[in-house]
Amino acid sequence: MRRGLGVCYYPEQWPKSRWKDDVLNMKNLGISFVRIAEFSWAMIEPKPKEYNFNLIDEIIDIIGKNDLKVVLGTPTAAPPSWMIELYPDMLPINQSGLARQFGSRRHYCFSHEKFVEHCEALVRVMAKHFGENPYLAAWQIDNEYGCHDTTISYSSLALAGYRKWLKNKFSNNLGQDENSIDKLNHSWGNNFWSMNYANFDQINFPVNCVTEPNPAHSLSFLEYCSEKVVEFNKKQALIIREHSSLPITHNFMGRITDFDHFKVGQDLDFASWDSYPLGFLEDRLSAPDSHKKMFARQGDPDFQAFHHDLYRAVGKGKWWVMEQQPGSVNWAPYNPMPLPGVVRLWTWEAFAHGAEVVSFFRWRQAKSAQEQLHCGLQSPTGKNMPVMKEIQKVSSELRFASEFETSKSQVGVVFDYEADRYWKVQPHGIGNNYFDLVFDFYKGLRKLGQSIDFISPIDGDFNEYKLIIIPGAMHMGKELIDRIKSFSNTVLVGPRAGCRDENFNLEKFSSLLPNFNLDVLVSETFRPDMPVRLSIEGSFIKYRELIETSAEVLIKTESGDPALISNGKIQYLAGWPDEIALKNILLRILKEEELPFTIMPEGVRERRNGGERFWFNYNCFEVEFNGFKIPAANFIRQRQK
Ligand code: GAL
Repeated sequence: MRRGLGVCYYPEQWPKSRWKDDVLNMKNLGISFVRIAEFSWAMIEPKPKEYNFNLIDEIIDIIGKNDLKVVLGTPTAAPPSWMIELYPDMLPINQSGLARQFGSRRHYCFSHEKFVEHCEALVRVMAKHFGENPYLAAWQIDNEYGCHDTTISYSSLALAGYRKWLKNKFSNNLGQDENSIDKLNHSWGNNFWSMNYANFDQINFPVNCVTEPNPAHSLSFLEYCSEKVVEFNKKQALIIREHSSLPITHNFMGRITDFDHFKVGQDLDFASWDSYPLGFLEDRLSAPDSHKKMFARQGDPDFQAFHHDLYRAVGKGKWWVMEQQPGSVNWAPYNPMPLPGVVRLWTWEAFAHGAEVVSFFRWRQAKSAQEQLHCGLQSPTGKNMPVMKEIQKVSSELRFASEFETSKSQVGVVFDYEADRYWKVQPHGIGNNYFDLVFDFYKGLRKLGQSIDFISPIDGDFNEYKLIIIPGAMHMGKELIDRIKSFSNTVLVGPRAGCRDENFNLEKFSSLLPNFNLDVLVSETFRPDMPVRLSIEGSFIKYRELIETSAEVLIKTESGDPALISNGKIQYLAGWPDEIALKNILLRILKEEELPFTIMPEGVRERRNGGERFWFNYNCFEVEFNGFKIPAANFIRQRQK
């Protein structure tokens, strides 16, 4: 596989007289792919069912004749104003019942069938028109599902869809079962507080109740919303495939977990994601201010890698960065310029994790509208930004880089979007969430020099790994349990594992894995200033369980409660470890499994991929490590013989 560079381009925002020069300049920079049209609906379909592809044809022609290839977006993330006139009820509704208005993007409700049909019609004509175009490299469906909090809509159509979905779920034969409402009442435990329903039409959204709704109710609604995203994406993918043999992708986002990306990934040929390291550090990373200040111009040392590894799994090994931040952005609480050199670091880090293409957002900074303060590779007047030099450097480095294959890591971590729903429904303590728990484990492993693969809870071969880690999987399905049972190496599970069934009722871990004797007597959450000390250096923070077990106790709390237990192959961790405890727990396991490790200096991370080894220095100062001097915001790359 060859590595390549791309760029996002919005021809409709610039006079035609610039197009040729723009494309020539892209070519001279070493760009191979240009993504267009993901927001061009109004231009492509100016009136209902009147399609006009002239401008897109023209730009594709210019791009193709200059030997570059196009990634064509289906523009369904930006429905035009006539669409809202046609279907005023397609706007998503927020929790207070207010419509989220036209005037930006993603203003649609996934449950609005007429809107979805309209999308299908548009995608069909596009797929017919462009499907065999030799200048196209791939399709991108829609843009960033879930971005701006758009997975959930509380519309009347969503309510009707949710009720129907529940009815099917609790009926044996698609809604024909008259006992289905009783099954739902029983499965959800609705006789608590007299919450029984007499029929499905009595069920509302699990919001705006006097106090919290039944967790089973909340869980099922989140699942419904996730399924609607999967369905919407699948519909477009199937239509494209009828007319085009080109690969299909979707550009996922950072830290958006409210739909099942693995399920969407099943309908894609490769995954891609949009990486904004500085924006994400400021607006979605859970970290102390001192950490944010230290990495404000470089990004968090693990956040990008985490998503690279996650989306590599979603794309079954094939993935791109579809949008790479090239300068300061406009949408985070603070929007600093990146440190010189760090855009090159981000780009190579993506390649080190197996990206086939890194595509920059965007070619030229917009003159108007919402993102006029978002840097591109060029200023609005067409001047090259200083970052161009870094991209030129990457581009010349790529000319001499050899082909690559992504190799498997030795450590696998299960990431489970369903588990994220369980934690969202019941965090049990302020700020507790699944993403942060998995991210802590990921960071802890990387601080010990590990390269990591993520694995979906429903497929992916455990036996390719020496160590599997499954943090926080509150509900463990059959696929996961079976794979744990047949895995011959060590699995570290917990905290909060296998403790709920599919309807959120309490479940015993040992009922799933009968050879593992474990009973959780109490689960407690506590204030950040009340750590529970362990018999090793370090503490449990935020959450821990008081357990009864006959398994071997490897680590105890200071007061003698079991904290880490083992039956030889499976280890169970009964709390959320702080950084020091996690380091000690992981070191112990890595040593036992004879996995090589390195204690990494602050802000430096290693990535091994096949014959290549990289050390990335996210610090704003030079670091000496392993006999190398790694300059600030830079990296070292070695090929093993
Ligand atoms: C992404 C989005 C782009 C653009 C960019 C700005 O989330 O896909 O269209 O808005 O952010 O950083």
